[in-house]
Order: sequence, then C-alpha cells, then structure tokens
Amino acid sequence: MGVDLELEHVAPLPRKKDFRIGAIGAGFIMRDIQLVAYKSAGFNVVAIASKVPAETREVAELRGIPKVYDTWEELIADPSIEALDIAVPPDVQPAIVKEAVRHKHIKGILAQKPLAMSLADAHKMVDACEQAGVPLAVNQHMRYDQSIRALKTVLRRGYLGEPVLATIEMRAIPHWQTWLKEYDRLTLFAMSIHHLDCFRFLFGNPESVYVSARSDPRTRFAHRDGIVLYILEYASGLRAAAWDDVWAGPAREGAASDTYIKWRVEGTEGMAKGTIGWPGYPCRTPSTIDFTTRQEPGCWFSPRWDQVWFPDAFEGTMGELLLSLVEGRETVISGRDNLDTIVLKALRKEPERRYGTADALADDIAIIDTGIDYTHPDFQSSANVSRAAVTSLS
Ligand SMILES: NC(=O)c1ccc[n+]([C@@H]2O[C@H](COP(=O)([O-])OP(=O)(O)OC[C@H]3O[C@@H](n4cnc5c(N)ncnc54)[C@H](O)[C@@H]3O)[C@@H](O)[C@H]2O)c1
Repeated sequence: MGVDLELEHVAPLPRKKDFRIGAIGAGFIMRDIQLVAYKSAGFNVVAIASKVPAETREVAELRGIPKVYDTWEELIADPSIEALDIAVPPDVQPAIVKEAVRHKHIKGILAQKPLAMSLADAHKMVDACEQAGVPLAVNQHMRYDQSIRALKTVLRRGYLGEPVLATIEMRAIPHWQTWLKEYDRLTLFAMSIHHLDCFRFLFGNPESVYVSARSDPRTRFAHRDGIVLYILEYASGLRAAAWDDVWAGPAREGAASDTYIKWRVEGTEGMAKGTIGWPGYPCRTPSTIDFTTRQEPGCWFSPRWDQVWFPDAFEGTMGELLLSLVEGRETVISGRDNLDTIVLKALRKEPERRYGTADALADDIAIIDTGIDYTHPDFQSSANVSRAAVTSLS
C-alpha cells in the first residue's frame, strides 16, 4: 500500500475571499498575527475598532484597513460588514456577540478562545447565535497547527492503529496580558485550552480528566493555575496527558533556557512525535512531525513544510468560517462544539474526585453553570497547590 506523505497539513481556504470582515481588537493577536495571516490569505478586512482609538488608527494604517471606528458598537452597526473577527479580553466578548447577532448584515462571527469566562456565559452566546441563525466559530487554532493537522491525517489513515498514549510536553514562557491579572484562572484559560482542544480534535471527548495545578514562581500577580498537569481518560483505554510548564526553569532569571513544545502519540501500529514551533516566535519555526508505522517496518517518515503556527494557522480558522458560509454548513470549530472544551478547563474544588456516572457529571455541570465562588476562603487556602478532577460532556 505504501505510506502517503501528503498529510494535508494546511486546511483548504474558500475561493470566495471578498467577505467584508470587521475586526474588533487591535492588540497583539489582531495586529501582529491575525491581520498578517489574513493579508497573506487574501481576506478582505474593511474596518477595525478597539477600546483605544489611537491604537486602532495605528493598526489600521499599519495593516491597510480603510475604516476605523472608535467603538465596537459603531463597527457592528456598519451595514457593509458581513463577518466579525473578535480578539478582545474574554470577559468583553459575550456582550459583543450578543449585540452582533441583532444585526442582520452579520453572517458569521469568529470569536477568540476562551469563548467566555464561564460555561454559563458561553452557553448564552451559543444559544443567542443559534436563535439568530448566525454561525459562531471559535478561534481554536492549534487544530490548524500544521503538525497537528498532519497528525490527524496520520491517525485517520490508520498508520498508528489504535491510539494508546498521547502526550504534550510544553516548556515555554507565555507573555501574560495585563487583563489576565483580573481573572481567577490563568494557564488553564490562556494556554491549556489549546492542548485540551487538540486532544478533543484528535481523539474526541474523554470520559474523565484529572487536573493538578500549582502557582508559577515567575508570575507576580495572584493566581492558582500556573504550572498545570492533566490526564484525560478515554473509554477506549487511551490516556492523553499534558504538562503545561510555564515556568520552564529560571530561564529569565539567569539560567540557560531550554524551551519547547513536544508531542507524541503511541498507537498499536505506529508512533508519531512532533514539535510545535511557537516558542521560536517571532522567528518562523515550522512545527514538525516524524512518524513510524508497522506498514513500513523500521522506517521513520519526516515530511516538512514552510508554514508556521503563528501566524499562518490563523488563515485556517478564518478560512474555515468563510468556507462554512460558502458551503452553507456548520463550521467544524463551532461555538456549540467548543462548549465541551470550556467544560474540560473548569477546575473542580474537591480534591481526588472523579466521575463514576453521567448523573454525577450532570450535577457538577449544574454547579459550573451557576458559577463557583472562587473567592471563598476555603478555596483561597489551597491557592498554591490544588488538585482537582473535571470532566467533559462526552
Ligand atoms: N489563539 C491564540 O493563540 C491567542 C493568542 C493570544 C491571544 N488570544 C486571545 O485574543 C484575545 C486578545 O488577546 P491579545 O493578546 O491581543 O490582548 P491585548 O491586550 O494585546 O489586546 C486586547 C485588545 O482588546 C481591546 N479591547 C479591550 N477591551 C475592549 C472593549 N471593551 N471594546 C473594544 N476593544 C476592547 C484592546 O483595545 C486591545 O486592542 C484574547 O481573548 C486572548 O485570549 C489568543
């Protein structure tokens, strides 16, 4: 049969690229990543707004965007806007989506991850979009990292057989935006959400999840989840685990640096391993995959490409929203689908707890839906080291 090395590492883009896009947010991800990717893809960004008019104008000039609005309300009221691209702090996002779906000219919305700060808010956003008939996509773009897409193809073709063990090892130091200081969660919301969503993309929903978190010595503001470790348990027996190590040793404090993100999937018929190039940003460092399969005994296969996760993968998420509009189908990165990822990252309070039944899970979903009081003294006392179990809606 032979191993096919065309691994579909780049998602298809729509041929129709002239959808009129309105961008909300002019910070790092919009200015330096998304707008760069859209230019390269040939997408048509016609207007931009943010909280700071001077910042908006500077980005509009830098990226050649013709219209500038001082507020997001003015931008979404512009009847020429067909698609919205939102990249603002997640607590601001629900109000924008809720208001946007009241405007008939808006045909689709690409929201950022995390979709909202609570499962309850995320549900409301998804419901509002569905009731208004406006497709909502979520920018879970690690699914569009080239090595992860190649891995998905390798899995689909059966080169690895039945997945047995999957791991992601992240030793990297993210830049924490100032608004994250105001939130009660850090790495789970900002970083682990990528890995949890990847595991769902590759393997579906797990039966249960263990999470263990501790504070990060480098991060000065109060937080609970700095370094986060978790294990996802699947009905098939598969175990998927990640170490989201945002400390990565005292690399900024005088010691040498050794930062990277590696992943590995072992199956009954083969094994794949890879790297995510993002820690190399702004140097263009492509992600990689190397795999071996019993179909070609003793061989390693190492296809390579030029595209990178940041910014190129952002062509994929916006492209997917626009393609779904052209094809009149639900987007594969829909808000409804994303609710499962939101649940996965909701830390539970009780240590050592896991779910034996769907009823126990339903009870906890209800608690998450109504909100957990993270300011309660019981909770604060275990701020440095907390062990918790969460699960998904599988
Ligand atoms: N997918 C990824 O890998 C990735 C990476 C970084 C950030 N993000 C997400 O993108 C979003 C923005 O992150 P960032 O790094 O660009 O942050 P940032 O702080 O650099 O920029 C935030 C932007 O939001 C704007 N803003 C804030 N409040 C607003 C309001 N009320 N109305 C209009 N605009 C408002 C600010 O003016 C600014 O332009 C966040 O949701 C973040 O989680 C995703």
